[in-house]
Amino acid sequence: MKQEVRRYPDLEALSEAAAEFICTEAQECQEARGLFTLVLAGGKTPELLYQNLVQPSFNVRMPWSHTHFFWGDERCVSPDHPDSNFGMVSRALISKVPIPPQNVHRIEAENGTPGEAAKAYERTLRRFFGPAGNGNSTPSSSLQEQRFPSFDLVMLGVGKDGHTASLFPGDPVVEEQERWVAAVPNPRGSPPVPRVTLTLPVINRAKCVLFLVSGAEKRDVVRLVINDPQAPSRFYPAARVRPQGRLVWLLDEEAS
Ligand code: 6PG
Repeated sequence: MKQEVRRYPDLEALSEAAAEFICTEAQECQEARGLFTLVLAGGKTPELLYQNLVQPSFNVRMPWSHTHFFWGDERCVSPDHPDSNFGMVSRALISKVPIPPQNVHRIEAENGTPGEAAKAYERTLRRFFGPAGNGNSTPSSSLQEQRFPSFDLVMLGVGKDGHTASLFPGDPVVEEQERWVAAVPNPRGSPPVPRVTLTLPVINRAKCVLFLVSGAEKRDVVRLVINDPQAPSRFYPAARVRPQGRLVWLLDEEAS
């Protein structure tokens, strides 16, 4: 894993840099293999980034017809609910750019129980990547690694408690080593609604993970996770994100 930390004066500069990063990754992936698989982050921080991608300076550069959107996690609410991660991206980005509808693979977390919704999303991923997830394995991938899909870019946020996606400190789902997608029926986070989340083995198979973090309330946990490799990672799921590829942190001054 190669870790890189980039700092920006404020959320606006951070979001502009993140849009540039995503555009560049998308173009490189499109040129390399005609496909760009992007896992979108939830929460509030990435909203401005999503709005930036609508601007002509980014919109015209994105290879939309070869870009596929996935979600790192979703709250078990309807897509038009204010807490829906898909709903936020749909309003900020999807409704305003020419990404083909069939390229948008949302977590249908409102359908059935959280466990049923997690199984359904795993089926969606297996259909896309191939049953064993090794549709795009690299020669160096071990058998274990080839059992999981490898996204080109996984975007994540961090909570001040060190959670990421819907992997919350102390939750058994943090230890999941078999499933690609899991239910989080009683998340220790806000909003306190059941969730569906990608698991760490999937996140860590990413070719690149991009953390987007803003705000002073995240500073302590960010410093600990970045600077203390021995951070008791059972307390900070974000410290368990150690992708096989690149790990890039985009921080504003307040979170640095
Ligand atoms: C979620 C997100 C979660 C988020 C962090 C940071 O569904 O809530 O996946 O992991 O990224 O909680 O959220 P903010 O960007 O709102 O601070």
